[in-house]
Amino acid sequence: MCGIVGYVGKKEALPVLLQGLRDLEYRGYDSAGIAVLNQGKIFRVREVGKVDNLVNKLKGKTLEGSVGIAHTRWATHGGVTEKNAHPHFGSSSLGEPEVEGKLALVHNGIIENYREIKKQLKDQNFSSETDSEVLAKLIYENYEGDLVKAVKKSLPRVRGTYGVAVMHQDNPNLIVAARLGSPLVVGMGQNEYYLASDVTPMLPYTKRVSYLDDGEVAEISTAGVKISNLKDEVVKKDITRIEWDKEQAQKNGFPSFMLKEIFDQPIVFEDAIRGRFNMQEGTAILGGLNMTEEEKRDVKRVVIVAEGTARHAGLIAKYAFERLANLPCEVDSSSEFRYRDPVVNESTLVFAISQSGETVDTLLAIREAKRKGAKVRGVVNVVGSTIARETGAGTYIHAGPELSVASTKAFTNMVTVLLLYALEFGRIKQTSPATGQRLLQALLEIPEKMHSILKQSEQIKEIAKVYAKYQSIIFIGRGVNFPVALEGALKLKEISYIHAEGMSGGELKHGPLALVSKDLPVIAVLTQDQLYEKMKSSVAEVKARGARTLIIANEGDEEVRDLADEIIYVPKTMELLEPLLNTIPLQLFAYHMAVILGKDVDRPRNLAKSVTVE
Ligand code: AGP
Repeated sequence: MCGIVGYVGKKEALPVLLQGLRDLEYRGYDSAGIAVLNQGKIFRVREVGKVDNLVNKLKGKTLEGSVGIAHTRWATHGGVTEKNAHPHFGSSSLGEPEVEGKLALVHNGIIENYREIKKQLKDQNFSSETDSEVLAKLIYENYEGDLVKAVKKSLPRVRGTYGVAVMHQDNPNLIVAARLGSPLVVGMGQNEYYLASDVTPMLPYTKRVSYLDDGEVAEISTAGVKISNLKDEVVKKDITRIEWDKEQAQKNGFPSFMLKEIFDQPIVFEDAIRGRFNMQEGTAILGGLNMTEEEKRDVKRVVIVAEGTARHAGLIAKYAFERLANLPCEVDSSSEFRYRDPVVNESTLVFAISQSGETVDTLLAIREAKRKGAKVRGVVNVVGSTIARETGAGTYIHAGPELSVASTKAFTNMVTVLLLYALEFGRIKQTSPATGQRLLQALLEIPEKMHSILKQSEQIKEIAKVYAKYQSIIFIGRGVNFPVALEGALKLKEISYIHAEGMSGGELKHGPLALVSKDLPVIAVLTQDQLYEKMKSSVAEVKARGARTLIIANEGDEEVRDLADEIIYVPKTMELLEPLLNTIPLQLFAYHMAVILGKDVDRPRNLAKSVTVE
């Protein structure tokens, strides 16, 4: 996700801001920029690519001044270009093109209603495709000499999320910052103050920080920091002393990116659904399809191509497309798809699912599908990635940068976006508004239910200690929980190096049961859905052969007690949404197993975050 850095003090701002950008590089980004205010003028420089590119571009330029803001951009609206990079100007550029402006803004977050605001602005001269530039212009239009007032007048019109920092040339040593949904923290120095998306950039200068809360506005100047809310009431903030080093700070205090990303899921889930519900009609609004209602009706079959965790997300979507939209849905490993002479044509809609958007097997599968005339859409995390560009349309999952090789938050966001696609098609075909509304309402309850599972992390660690001695583990599930079993097995084997196999509970007696003994534990996803009784029989089969059993069960289910050696309880939800919850205990189980076994959780051996070779 984007990164913000700000400085007000007595030092030259430029070196502080550049170091701050480097400290935020771990968040993932695709462009960077900086603006410094000096003697009533604001100058900025922006560049695509890494901070080094920005530094090179700054060579020979003098950006003097002791007040400045800077930004690393993780593209959400608009491609990866210099013009889309932050800071954005509120005024049309003055003087040297693109360099000088009256008001500069950096923003982290998503403004849902930016199109609506954009239309109402007087100055229709936009130089970018971003929602952030619209906010800069709105604040500039509302500016009548008081920057804080202009910010407080503008923000109530915004729907969505923001972490924002603004400077105006007429306010020589002032940065105004505000937060709604995207973290911002203020660092307290000696007559100098720091602002950033997390504490990492300020650790070299101060460990005394105050975290902004949603709805708060900070006025940061050499006179000090004043924090108030949008109703102009002063807010008293505690000062926290940070004990983290830089690496801990980048992981927000978590011991690894994987655990941080597992705990990110409730937050990034909301980014996946934000602005994509039509509760009134009980349907989803996913602009990325780029298809008329007619073209959607003409879709006769859905094919999903993906690898690994992304393929497991696709397997869950299969149940949703069939059940909600009565659409045949086939899911294949991208690497198999393109060599099996697939039967696809104009009436086939192919979804390519990929966190990185660079998986070459999936990229080549897309090309094969396009060659055969299919419509191809992407469900991708990285904006502007190759797969996103080659599909030309689709939906970003907004999971933010996923840095751990083991995919977790991207998985739950992929499943969410695919469920919304299935609902959108379903509401064109057979799904009633009431069913659609019920599904959307159930989605709104997911973040809270995720939290209730994440709180069990320590208990799951204790359970992992019991299972760490085994050499192999079988995961079983049925229906939408069959792909959950596959995903749980993949998580375990890729970070703990313990052999694990996921399978349908119904498969056991067709062979794998021969493996089961007291030395081969079984992890069963046994939540109370339509296949609950059948799954109980499968668990009874393995229990009878001496296997140790860990069961993922619904809260309040007492029937599983005599089938389980260990139980992890999860909240109930609609059957199609169960994977969004049932996968989380398995992510945590795999994580704790790997830590107990002393493995490098974020960088497992032999694996890469993005497989860009065939
Ligand atoms: C999942 O934990 C793995 N890292 C791997 O299976 C991954 O899902 C697969 O390589 C696909 O990557 P993509 O989503 O970036 O295309």
